[in-house]
Amino acid sequence: MKSTESHAIRVRSSAGDYCVLCERGLAQKAGQEIAKLGDFSSVHILSSPKVWRAVGQRALRGLRSQLAAKMHLFDDAEAAKNLSTVEKITRELVRAGADRKSLLVAVGGGVVGDVVGFAAASYLRGVALVQVPTTVVAQVDSAVGGKTGVNLPEGKNLVGAFYPPRLVLVDPEFLETLPEREFRSGLAEVIKYGVIGDTELFAFLEQNIGGILSREAEALEHVIRCSIAAKAYVVSADEKESGLREILNYGHTFAHALESVTRYRKYRHGEAVAWGMMCAALLGHEVLDTPADDVARIIALVRRIGPLPAWPDVTPRKLLAAMRADKKTKFGKVRFVLSARLGQVRTYDDVAPKKALCVLRFGPQFLLRSAPVTALEKCHG
Ligand SMILES: NC(=O)c1ccc[n+]([C@@H]2O[C@H](COP(=O)([O-])OP(=O)(O)OC[C@H]3O[C@@H](n4cnc5c(N)ncnc54)[C@H](O)[C@@H]3O)[C@@H](O)[C@H]2O)c1
Ligand SMILES: [Zn+2]
Repeated sequence: MKSTESHAIRVRSSAGDYCVLCERGLAQKAGQEIAKLGDFSSVHILSSPKVWRAVGQRALRGLRSQLAAKMHLFDDAEAAKNLSTVEKITRELVRAGADRKSLLVAVGGGVVGDVVGFAAASYLRGVALVQVPTTVVAQVDSAVGGKTGVNLPEGKNLVGAFYPPRLVLVDPEFLETLPEREFRSGLAEVIKYGVIGDTELFAFLEQNIGGILSREAEALEHVIRCSIAAKAYVVSADEKESGLREILNYGHTFAHALESVTRYRKYRHGEAVAWGMMCAALLGHEVLDTPADDVARIIALVRRIGPLPAWPDVTPRKLLAAMRADKKTKFGKVRFVLSARLGQVRTYDDVAPKKALCVLRFGPQFLLRSAPVTALEKCHG
């Protein structure tokens, strides 16, 4: 997996290839880029009031007038990522005269992208979609790969579709207005791409994390582009998550358990992933003898993206039970993505529960020690 400086990143999908364009200031050219896709009977921009206040009026001023687009704003709280919002949006589209040749443009974070993506997949059995992601998570993760969907009261992302966009427009300048916590937590997914395959990205992050945290434009654009290239590589090889795509879940077995036991209220997803990646690094050391130096580098870099909400006050057994209940668990076996070496990962579904319990029991104390991580001992739990 190699990073790339090229402006357009191509993604393969069963419904046709599409491009992810990533460039500072791209929003100013959004209308032109969308016009290159062809003629549409009508264009509908869908966003949230919060996102549109933050970025829409400034960066996307031209988009509406250039495309004679109609505007639709809806709540992008995670609690509103549900079927009734999809119903509201699609009914509004009917009233606005949207037909099979219409285009939906989703402007926002992962919630907007997932909801509008699913609306595009199901409205009249599918209308064209362009993603304009405005958070770190959306730019490096959710807008690329075609996964769309909404939550049910019974669980997250339980209703959805694989529905690739026609184009993804990534403008890192959008991130200027992102609240600090959203920004920092999104960087956990960027670190993930370094761990799972792009060691150059990982080293770049180690050397430039200070500048990235202060949103220094060039460094930020570079890591966003490398992350998109990494995601594009993986989803192009395995669109529907039957193999390689699982490596994107590095740190996520732990993260999903942390999110679920705290009822999705304590952590931003990236914060849970940050804890999860540190635990996965420790588990890699337990199970695969990952070199201590690699484990230490992962933990040190994750720590530098900032303080995380505390580890939850629940027993390791309860966390393990949450892992077993995860929808990604197959045949009752908990699956972990582990890294034998930095840049090399694969899925394991035969990790002895006592090893995972050991990490859950001793890992948080270890990770909270303020001393630099220089040596690791196995816990033999
Ligand atoms: N489809 C996928 O492959 C995939 C991958 C990862 C995450 N997701 C989903 O994405 C969602 C999380 O997405 P997210 O982390 O982007 O959060 P989000 O969409 O909830 O956005 C976070 C907050 O930032 C605000 N915001 C967005 N852009 C802004 C900007 N530029 N300036 C100021 N404020 C801005 C939003 O209004 C919101 O309040 C979850 O629902 C998750 O399930 C999907
Ligand atoms: Zn994630």
